[in-house]
Amino acid sequence: MSGLLAGKRLLVTGVITDASIAFSVAKLAQENGAQVVLTGFGRLSLVERIAKRLPEPAPVIELDVTNTEHLAGLADKVREHVDGLDGVVHSIGFAPQSCLGGGFLDAPWEDVATAVHVSTYSYKSLAVAALPLMSPGSAVVGLTFDATKAWPVYDWMGVAKAGLESASRYLALHLGKQGIRSNLVSAGPLRTMAAKSIPGFDQFEQAWTERAPLGWSLTDQEPAARACLALLSDWFPATTGEIVHVDGGYHALGA
Ligand SMILES: NC(=O)c1ccc[n+]([C@@H]2O[C@H](COP(=O)([O-])OP(=O)(O)OC[C@H]3O[C@@H](n4cnc5c(N)ncnc54)[C@H](O)[C@@H]3O)[C@@H](O)[C@H]2O)c1
Repeated sequence: MSGLLAGKRLLVTGVITDASIAFSVAKLAQENGAQVVLTGFGRLSLVERIAKRLPEPAPVIELDVTNTEHLAGLADKVREHVDGLDGVVHSIGFAPQSCLGGGFLDAPWEDVATAVHVSTYSYKSLAVAALPLMSPGSAVVGLTFDATKAWPVYDWMGVAKAGLESASRYLALHLGKQGIRSNLVSAGPLRTMAAKSIPGFDQFEQAWTERAPLGWSLTDQEPAARACLALLSDWFPATTGEIVHVDGGYHALGA
């Protein structure tokens, strides 16, 4: 087998449509020699249907990252398909509507707690659930949206992403001794199901299209997926706690 991820076994979360960033990661990973196991949330039959569009059939395991039973059983379920994991991809985010679109001052704690549970704490939960299958050289990769700034309409999801960026650094700290890396890809705006649920998302679309130094495609998930593959590969062996921007260079600009 040849390719950047030849022989690697990956667990990829977050496929819900073929526009999902996770779908591009899974597709590209298979094309580059990896064996992929997917997890799906809720609509399992839909995820299974989408999984059939991958170059190779990939098994789908049910996983709600807030469900402690799902997390406790994850390693055994993954073991039914592969004998270990070289990489885990966290491509999960959710915030109730009250947390997005300008409602920052009014969103109730219960809704904010849901956003943080699903989008932030789950990064650690997923890594720990998969830990029994990982060995030195393995990597965890997640997806963020630049949380160093306050964006219009992103509101509590921005706070959850700031937490995710910190959680990735702490995971790097706590898993480093075991030789396991944790890194994030900070992607520009992409038209996925999660993005469409953000009222006013078109403001990001317009800003990126007009200003990103390299230009930006709102419908091309491959650049972000490629960065995920690179971080999962053996080509970043001494990099952890890092955030790689795949945003056409937008983050480098001033106001
Ligand atoms: N689309 C963008 O513009 C963009 C930009 C930067 C970062 N991201 C991040 O990329 C990641 C993937 O999102 P996407 O844009 O591909 O959208 P998407 O809607 O395709 O994927 C989001 C996934 O999260 C899953 N999910 C939600 N709640 C869950 C739960 N409780 N347990 C398990 N899975 C759950 C959904 O099933 C879905 O598969 C997210 O972390 C998102 O914040 C997206």
